[in-house]
Amino acid sequence: MVARAQGRFAIRRAEARDSAALDAFDANIWDLSMTPTDLGPGHQPRFGVTIPVEDTWIAEDAGQVVGYAVIGRRTTLESNRHVGVLRAIAVAPAQRGTSLAQELMGAAIAAARERGMRKLCLTVLGSNPRAIAFYKRHGFVVEGTLRDEFLLRDVYVDDVLMALDLASYAGKG
Ligand SMILES: CC(C)(COP(=O)(O)OP(=O)(O)OC[C@H]1O[C@@H](n2cnc3c(N)ncnc32)[C@H](O)[C@@H]1OP(=O)(O)O)[C@@H](O)C(=O)NCCC(=O)NCCS
Repeated sequence: MVARAQGRFAIRRAEARDSAALDAFDANIWDLSMTPTDLGPGHQPRFGVTIPVEDTWIAEDAGQVVGYAVIGRRTTLESNRHVGVLRAIAVAPAQRGTSLAQELMGAAIAAARERGMRKLCLTVLGSNPRAIAFYKRHGFVVEGTLRDEFLLRDVYVDDVLMALDLASYAGKG
């Protein structure tokens, strides 16, 4: 997938040199209402096995990271090849409520389709209603709930599994 400019944002696939900028971006984004670790999604080393560089899409504004999305395969099983996972999507606070998150979601969906996936899954904390509303608006439906999956700040929080049927998805509702 090549970089594409939309409005003031440019969305492109990440490169290894972006690692430090993404880590700095993460430091200002995540808290325990959005992720089970306040260090970012999954608290995995950037661009390692769990988050390969080729699975990350970056949005920039005047050369600054303002958002990103990460997709991948759910498992390494051949029988599960058609299922992708949206591992993370985040935009800077100043860009929330703009078209940026929608553009990043569009890039993630296009990338999943290019990889032959027919279903895109994600998990989202029950304590993150803004993200849940965003996903529903983009056609994701709740497939299940892991009740009280995380104990965050002394409160048990659900992990909600959502999925988008890429075969029938025609665009944001
Ligand atoms: C999740 C995220 C990418 C969505 O992008 P966004 O620009 O905020 O999304 P939008 O403003 O387009 O949509 C958010 C929706 O939630 C609604 N909303 C906002 N606050 C809400 C709340 N407290 N409760 C319920 N809905 C809420 C908005 O009204 C909007 O719905 P609408 O379009 O039907 O009016 C962005 O909020 C973000 O980066 N959050 C921090 C990182 C994160 O939580 N990522 C997801 C981890 S699973």
